[in-house]
Amino acid sequence: MTTQDFIGKENFTIHTQTVSESCPSNIALIKYWGKYADQIPANPSISYTLNHCKTNTSMEFTANETFSVQTFLAGNEEVKFAEKIEKYFRNIEQYLPWILKGKYIIRTENTFPHSSGIASSASGFGAIAKCLMALDASFTGKNSEEESLRKASFLARLGSGSACRSLYNGLVVWGKTHEVEESSDLFGVQYPDAEVHEVFKNFNDWVLLIHEGQKSVSSTVGHGLMNTNPYAERRFQEARENFVPMKEILKNGDMERFIKLVEHEALTLHAMMMMSDPAFILMKTGTLEVINKVWDFRRETGMSLFFTLDAGANVHLLFPSNGSEEQIKNFIESELLQHTQKNGVVKDVMKF
Ligand code: DP6
Repeated sequence: MTTQDFIGKENFTIHTQTVSESCPSNIALIKYWGKYADQIPANPSISYTLNHCKTNTSMEFTANETFSVQTFLAGNEEVKFAEKIEKYFRNIEQYLPWILKGKYIIRTENTFPHSSGIASSASGFGAIAKCLMALDASFTGKNSEEESLRKASFLARLGSGSACRSLYNGLVVWGKTHEVEESSDLFGVQYPDAEVHEVFKNFNDWVLLIHEGQKSVSSTVGHGLMNTNPYAERRFQEARENFVPMKEILKNGDMERFIKLVEHEALTLHAMMMMSDPAFILMKTGTLEVINKVWDFRRETGMSLFFTLDAGANVHLLFPSNGSEEQIKNFIESELLQHTQKNGVVKDVMKF
């Protein structure tokens, strides 16, 4: 498929309408870090879609008014966010030709704490894209569920790259790779269920909130710094190569190799930040303390507790949900929680 396949229908009938949609967040195992023009990723990525961390959004569209956007986050007006959405809507007009023909009031709420530092752009843009597709169905006629989801993923990508993976459950791939049929740089695709070992279908993700509040460098700026990073090309190549072992591991359930690969990806992401010009570090002391304790725990117990990181200080603690995770949970509560800012932890699962 090409961008042309997503051009919107010119015959539409608009009317005033409110739609509501919900979309979960996701956590990448092979990371997207670096992109080209029009939100084309420099390498393919794969993520788990979370079950509890979600954004719920309602979009009130008033037809035939001058185009404007007003946004509210948890009841509070957010002018900066509205400006971003306004720009985004102008940018996607060719895909939804009716989009600038009215005014919007968008109310959005996250099920996870606002200041937690958990990326809300993925679930946020995912929910907005779903709302837009709901309006589109009512203005231009219904498409199949499959087409509508694919276009929502395509549109979400143009808002925030990682958002395109949030439209599907389970494991989701974004970016062209020969290892996954139908994969595309333009939208996310579900990783085939039949190719995933049972151990990976029921997993915990406990997010330790090491540092709440604003990050020193945004993801968008971070992606941009890959343009001048001397290690970028090697990194993109490695991420592409990592799909080969990832595919084998997901099929045969090799937890040891999975842990090694996922932690390597997380550390590589942060190594790239340190090798950027200007360099930046998003990990905090607590992040490193938790990582070292996780490694010690694994060495001592042999249990499958490991971590990944997104573009921030928080640590995503991953461990299978197989009925024998009590010891891991106790360890987290007694040894790791002390490294968070306010005993902050968000307990999520990936179940499919
Ligand atoms: C580290 O999707 O937030 O979480 O496309 O500029 O909005 P933009 O960036 P964003 O980047 C996410 C980066 C990451 C890795 C990942 O989710 O794959």
